[in-house]
Amino acid sequence: MAYHVESSVSPELLKSVVACKVFKKDVKISKISDGAVFNFTLASGTKLFSANAVVKYLYDTNHSGYKHQFSTLRWLEWEHNCLRNLIAAACVNESNADSQNILQTALTTLESAWKSDGLQKDPVLQCVFACILYPVFYQSSAISAKLSKNYPSLFSFILEHVKSSFFIAALNEICQNDQYVDNFKSYFSAVFKSSQKVTQSYHSSEMNSHGNNSAGEINKEVEKISQKEIDEAKLAWNKGTKGIKHHDRQHPILPQPGKRNILITSALPYVNNIPHLGNIIGCVLSADVFSRYCRLRHWNSLYICGTDEYGTATETKAAQEGVTPQQICDKYNKLHCEVYDWFNIDFDYFGRTTTKKQTVIAQDIFWHLHRNGYLQPQIVEQLYCAQCNRFLADRFVEGTCPLCTYEDARGDQCDKCGKLINAVELKNPKCKMCSAPPEVRSSQHLFVDLPKLEPKLREHLKKSFENVGWTANAKMITESWLRDGLKPRCITRDLKWGTPVPLEGYTDKVFYVWFDAPIGYISITANYTKDWEKWWKNPENVELYNFMAKDNVPFHSVIFPSCLMGTSDKYTLVSNLNATEYLNYEDGKFSKSRGVGVFGNHAKDTGIDADIWRFYLLYVRPESQDTVFSWNDFMLKNNSELLNNLGNFINRSLKFTTGAFNGILPKVVLNDRDYELMAEVNREIDEYIADMDRIRLRENLRKILNISRLGNQYFQENQPWKLVKGNETDKERAGTVTSVGVNLSCLLSILLEPYMPATSRIIWEQMNAPAYFTTTFPQRFVQFLPEGHKLNKPSPLFRKLDEAEMDSLKKRFCGEGTGQQNKEKLPTQNNSVKTDVNVSELEKKVTEQGNSVREMKSKKLEKAVIDKAVQDLLGLKRQLALAKGEDPNAGKIGGKKNKKKK
Ligand code: MF3
Ligand code: ZN
Repeated sequence: MAYHVESSVSPELLKSVVACKVFKKDVKISKISDGAVFNFTLASGTKLFSANAVVKYLYDTNHSGYKHQFSTLRWLEWEHNCLRNLIAAACVNESNADSQNILQTALTTLESAWKSDGLQKDPVLQCVFACILYPVFYQSSAISAKLSKNYPSLFSFILEHVKSSFFIAALNEICQNDQYVDNFKSYFSAVFKSSQKVTQSYHSSEMNSHGNNSAGEINKEVEKISQKEIDEAKLAWNKGTKGIKHHDRQHPILPQPGKRNILITSALPYVNNIPHLGNIIGCVLSADVFSRYCRLRHWNSLYICGTDEYGTATETKAAQEGVTPQQICDKYNKLHCEVYDWFNIDFDYFGRTTTKKQTVIAQDIFWHLHRNGYLQPQIVEQLYCAQCNRFLADRFVEGTCPLCTYEDARGDQCDKCGKLINAVELKNPKCKMCSAPPEVRSSQHLFVDLPKLEPKLREHLKKSFENVGWTANAKMITESWLRDGLKPRCITRDLKWGTPVPLEGYTDKVFYVWFDAPIGYISITANYTKDWEKWWKNPENVELYNFMAKDNVPFHSVIFPSCLMGTSDKYTLVSNLNATEYLNYEDGKFSKSRGVGVFGNHAKDTGIDADIWRFYLLYVRPESQDTVFSWNDFMLKNNSELLNNLGNFINRSLKFTTGAFNGILPKVVLNDRDYELMAEVNREIDEYIADMDRIRLRENLRKILNISRLGNQYFQENQPWKLVKGNETDKERAGTVTSVGVNLSCLLSILLEPYMPATSRIIWEQMNAPAYFTTTFPQRFVQFLPEGHKLNKPSPLFRKLDEAEMDSLKKRFCGEGTGQQNKEKLPTQNNSVKTDVNVSELEKKVTEQGNSVREMKSKKLEKAVIDKAVQDLLGLKRQLALAKGEDPNAGKIGGKKNKKKK
């Protein structure tokens, strides 16, 4: 299927691509967009002006002569003219109750039609509503929280639909690097603006007949900073750092009455492998950002993690390496520590699960469950290898598939027919370790009675789900477990490496690693402080935040809390569960065995600082769908965002102070423009806070970059390097602008701390800023550094990455040492190739056009002709900058600045 896409992705585009998949159409669509206006050209040359028309058209070509029901057409129209605008308004005004309520009313209407009028059976409506509602689900937390409760039919429909293969294929086809969800906001704000413009031009034409006002002015007012915001900004700035107190962490950190007490955990990594970048962003790094933010807010937070050491995986690894399981654990625990240290992950305590405390606490929880009647014995048939002298976990058996007779089926699944298999049903089973045929043995195990605990769990989740820190996927996965009804789960295993089961009759068994591991959070805390119960048996005063990748969700939201509740001790239960999707590597998956991808221990050998890694991983954090680590994109984001935007702003403000004012902050005499900047910055800070509450870490990084963009614009507008050469008033103005710039850099260094702690520290040092207020989150842009403050010597914060460097790194981590792509390809395409072609083609054109301009000038051609050629050249340069992912204006700015300074 060929698509020619000339604009950012959007729900409209998604609709038509999904429709191609559903109706199996092979059409070429070229799409031109201008904000919210669309124009699709089909291969036949026919133009269609809405995605709904495209969906309908594709359906019709499959069902010639079919007449759509009137209701289909009516709902399509409603979606296009009503729903889309309401979503846009709700999305742009997240905090406006009116917009939210109107949208909710509309969804209620749809919900009742959806179940009673049979809309859900209409394939055209399915396509259209799934695509438009999917973003709502991700964008508007107000709606997504209510979705499952208030709109159960729509909710389960979306849930099913987004899992369908055609939906996934369509998403993969149209976007790279998770742009899709990112683009909703800009798409919907374009829809919102254009709907405003339409209504406003109605209004203004009315008003114009009375002789006043115009659409343009009203439009401006929508976005303008209000007087109230300006006043507030003034007040805050003038208050300065008064009231900012120093805050030191003192261990052991314990909950304090009357404070926000936040217990943060990152999923405990297994010790049979070195974590790769996907593992790192999935848990430890994400939790680290949140934990650092909590410290900046002076909340009472404790960040706990450690290695998950028991289980089959460890035993197997030990057997492979010919050492004891304990030796494997020691080795990998150390490796993990080194990796996290390098990435600057600031745990309050990093422990492990193979400790005495683990045994004591796990057995205590077990006894409580037993006494309360939540455990039941059950006979399980399992494969046993007499030669290896052990029971075989499903994935350690191979044999012939009982369903399709494929000979290389695994014990859990057949790779040929894809069906799930029960290991004991395999024909000709073989032990994967020694190839001997295993025998079937039965063994008595203990099951935890989840159905009996289910009502308690539901009650807890109902409350917990109201918290904003739950991700949509975590809720969805949990809901789907509950919807299917809980079943008893086996918590024991016939293994040696684990916490021993203390009950008579089971003493040769250990706890199943997934029963044991989450208890690790508790025992690790107990190894940190004897007062661990103040954290873990204090549900009224402690908020528990769990960070993990999505495959861990049911263990944390369903099984672990159920077990804790079954003890009837008052344990602290999850209040916010933040789960990431997966990070892929270039165009495939990370694979240790094939050497594909960057693993934690490699990152430091690349010569790229840990903070740059943190930045990029957080920039592509798979928050609402799988994303891709791409070297090209890594380079582009480093060069455009860190170097040209953030680094450029901070460095130029400090350097200019040093060059023009001896490194001493000049006097500040503020005017309205300065206050406006402050108010704009304060708006961004408000959003930063809101995003942190919801743990939208990736979105938030963009807020920081927006602030430095505002700073760069402010300098560009005021041009202090010019003013400083002017008269006294000009000089004073140059001084003000400079001081404001340095103070903005100070603010940036604090906002940046959770993301790039080392860089943040370097900025404070260059600014010679007192440490006490740089450990505090300012909720406003204030004057941090007063007139007369002396800076230290500035130096550049970031370095440029170039293609040669990326190419050699790409080769190093591509696996199989060949430089060729790996086999396990995902349907997602990587855009690096396309970009390369574009860039080199454009570079060629720029050179050619540059030559011809010079030639024209030397020939002294007519001015108009030369001007035209120069315009073309500038246009090409702009395109080139865009193709490289750079700000098309950056070149100009840099050029001017350099010239002025010399
Ligand atoms: N070791 C598991 C994994 O890497 C995670 C365990 S999380 C815990 O997927 F809750 F069990 F600790
Ligand atoms: Zn064997």
